[in-house]
Amino acid sequence: MNTNSLMPPAPDMIAGPTPETVRAAVALACRAPSLHNTQPWKWVFDGVVLHLYSDPARLLPETDPFGRQLLLSCGAVLDHLKVALAVRGWRALVVRFPDPTRLDHLAAITFTPARFVTMAEHFLAEAIERRRTDRSPLSPPADWADFEPRITELLEDYAATATFLTQDSRGDLAQASRMTAARRRYDSMYRAELRWWTGHSTQVDGVPASVLATSGDSARVPLGRTFPAGQTISAESAPEIDASALVVLGTEGDHPLDCLRCGEALSAVLLEATVAGYATCTLTHLTELPASRAVVAQLAPECGVPQVVIRVGAAANEPSDRPRTARRDVDSVFAMRPQTARAY
Ligand SMILES: Cc1cc2nc3c(=O)[nH]c(=O)nc-3n(C[C@H](O)[C@H](O)[C@H](O)COP(=O)(O)O)c2cc1C
Repeated sequence: MNTNSLMPPAPDMIAGPTPETVRAAVALACRAPSLHNTQPWKWVFDGVVLHLYSDPARLLPETDPFGRQLLLSCGAVLDHLKVALAVRGWRALVVRFPDPTRLDHLAAITFTPARFVTMAEHFLAEAIERRRTDRSPLSPPADWADFEPRITELLEDYAATATFLTQDSRGDLAQASRMTAARRRYDSMYRAELRWWTGHSTQVDGVPASVLATSGDSARVPLGRTFPAGQTISAESAPEIDASALVVLGTEGDHPLDCLRCGEALSAVLLEATVAGYATCTLTHLTELPASRAVVAQLAPECGVPQVVIRVGAAANEPSDRPRTARRDVDSVFAMRPQTARAY
């Protein structure tokens, strides 16, 4: 079967994508996951180059003092952008950290026309719309043994590796999760930050109560982050205790570039898993404090520096049946600006 659909050349193909095309791609990319749905990114298009910046005003200093997760989130939106451009007939050429004097300037993106759009790219773009973070107890993912090598192969194009934890690791991870929660029980600054960003009904950012589990259901996911009690009640067919597969994404180092690139890998894994019909939940409380991060490193010694744990499983509900977490309007994160002299 030919899985490539030939694209008729569009009028803007020679010069580059129009601002409308770029804006639409950015709007789709902004469905990317981010720590507490902070969406810590800004985009500027100068007519030729699209620039991605981090938004330091959206750094969570108590949860993420070094900005590691801010960069993971921005990496995820960058990878989502590549997919969003691909289905519009454009390949992105990305230069990461193009300006050594500005660490908030994360990427400069130029474009070349794509000769065709693959079915896989269509599926990934559709997965961007369908994916949601699922915090409910998940059943073991079907055909997982076939999926693991696909993830390993997928990440060959990314600067992060995946380590698949055995179910024996659950006890130690659950203990690391409890230890993290216990250390934070009296951390009033952390708790204030968590309460600011999660558990109420914000319109465009933060994690609303509608997508957080009730306290009873949270107890059925011993590896989950402790959030304020929410309103999501698990389906009757959900397992009593979470039995998802666990994937650790790790990097060679812990520098800004490692984190940005790991965020790109996170996006790739989440979208691939969504295409395969799995539910996913990103977990980072396990890598925020040195003690719990050391537990993850011990369980996945070959992963390098552990950045993220992902739960992957079978959900009782279709992802699109679950409420979706809102995003800021694209025009509050995307701007046009005259072209600068710098060439990337
Ligand atoms: C770097 C990063 C860290 C995250 N950490 C957690 C976490 O510890 N627990 C959790 O339930 N979700 C976590 N998430 C998921 C976000 O809460 C979620 O992406 C955001 O609320 C938007 O919702 P959506 O993914 O359903 O679109 C994380 C996402 C990212 C990118």
